[in-house]
Amino acid sequence: MERTTHILLFAYPFQGHINPLLQFSKRLVSKGVRVTFVITTSIGKTMQALPSDSISVEIISDGSENGKDSESLDAAIERYKLHVSQSLAKLIEKHNSSQYPPKMVVYDSLMPWVLDIARQFGIDGAPFITQSCVINAIYYHASHGAIQMPIEERASISLPSIPSLGIDDLPSLICDQGLYPALLKLVLNQFSNILEANWLLCNTFNELENEVVNWMTSQQWRFKTIGPTIPSIYLDKRLEDDKEYGLHLFKPDVDVCMKWLDTKETDSVVYTSFGSLASLGEEQMDELTRGLKNSNCHFLWVVRETEQKKLPPNFLGETSEKGLVVSWCPQLDVLAHKAVGCFMTHCGWNSTLEALSLGVPMVAMPQWTDQPTNAKFIVDVWKIGVRIKLDERGIATKEEIELCIREVIEGERGKQMKMNSVRWKELAKEAVDKGGSSDRNIEEFVAKLAH
Ligand code: UDX
Repeated sequence: MERTTHILLFAYPFQGHINPLLQFSKRLVSKGVRVTFVITTSIGKTMQALPSDSISVEIISDGSENGKDSESLDAAIERYKLHVSQSLAKLIEKHNSSQYPPKMVVYDSLMPWVLDIARQFGIDGAPFITQSCVINAIYYHASHGAIQMPIEERASISLPSIPSLGIDDLPSLICDQGLYPALLKLVLNQFSNILEANWLLCNTFNELENEVVNWMTSQQWRFKTIGPTIPSIYLDKRLEDDKEYGLHLFKPDVDVCMKWLDTKETDSVVYTSFGSLASLGEEQMDELTRGLKNSNCHFLWVVRETEQKKLPPNFLGETSEKGLVVSWCPQLDVLAHKAVGCFMTHCGWNSTLEALSLGVPMVAMPQWTDQPTNAKFIVDVWKIGVRIKLDERGIATKEEIELCIREVIEGERGKQMKMNSVRWKELAKEAVDKGGSSDRNIEEFVAKLAH
């Protein structure tokens, strides 16, 4: 089949933002679209592998080669925007004079300025939300003054089509405004030119966030759910060669993890990971180490290389019977392994969607940004996990960690959570299966592209 409809997809340079956009690219390729996936030089440096042959990759400059170690977050975000605006414009110009000029740029919604560049060249633009629908509805309301900031300790926030949220359930960027003003600006700006965009795509599915999806759909923009963006082999098995996301910023210990899991009994292992960015304090690492050990369960724990210095001395060797600590793992294979009975997670949106789509109940230990809200939904709305309570120091103690793990792995509530998880797994699969809600939305997107 000759692919004549060409689109560019442009990812923000974080693992949790690359994975869903890359996976969406593969869905588009499977529907006959010609795809160029655009990343920037800072990722190019650490990239471990490239996506499949059916996707072309272009690496453009983000100025990271001139970035200083002492650069503030604000300065880094501005530098990125400045350099990328120029290099992306050059790239679009190059493709515009090729045999297949691009019809559209799909870009991470954190970069609304990409739309202005696309428009300069007469190209359409569609922001892609890599976080949940509810999170972005909250950011939308906040950017329109509907959330009184700063938020009072005991406040209960009521927003259209969203369950009432306490201060601990809100995205941390909204509660702790003083901490990361540059990031708060980034998430609130997502809606600055939304009415000019052709679509607003979101990595979720209608059935999962039904009420808030309906609210988003009722707005003036063309909101469409296209998720969960999980490689097909784990869901519908339609694309047999689609076994992983395909672009890693860290090197996974594949054999070590899978061989170790193969020796463990069904539902006996706690898989623990805090994603690609979160960093736990030393005291918290110590409590976590003890809590995992005391739970008496086997555990597979991802501790990124930069975090490993916080582990107790000799911990790796000492725990080899009971636990395995690796610097990065093939998370989807791990979650899909029958030995894994529970996922102790920071509740990043990809991790949440992956566990939900693979039927694994969770112990929620949110750290920042969207994670507290994801945890609220995991526990109270989807009922597929428990949330760790923090003590007065803001620490999850070893006793609390042990209690929560035991509740999910052994407790009566755990059994109900497992059943709920299996139901969500079926619904996730249905959404992306032929004729499912997300599949229909992708079909509509592709059909409109072709005209
Ligand atoms: C960040 C934010 O934390 C998250 O909340 C936001 O929605 C996206 O950006 P991150 O913290 O890395 O992402 O978490 P998450 O969204 O869960 O993404 C991590 C990705 O890395 C997942 O797709 C997961 O499968 C993958 N991963 C993680 C691995 O492949 N191996 C690992 O060992 C750990």
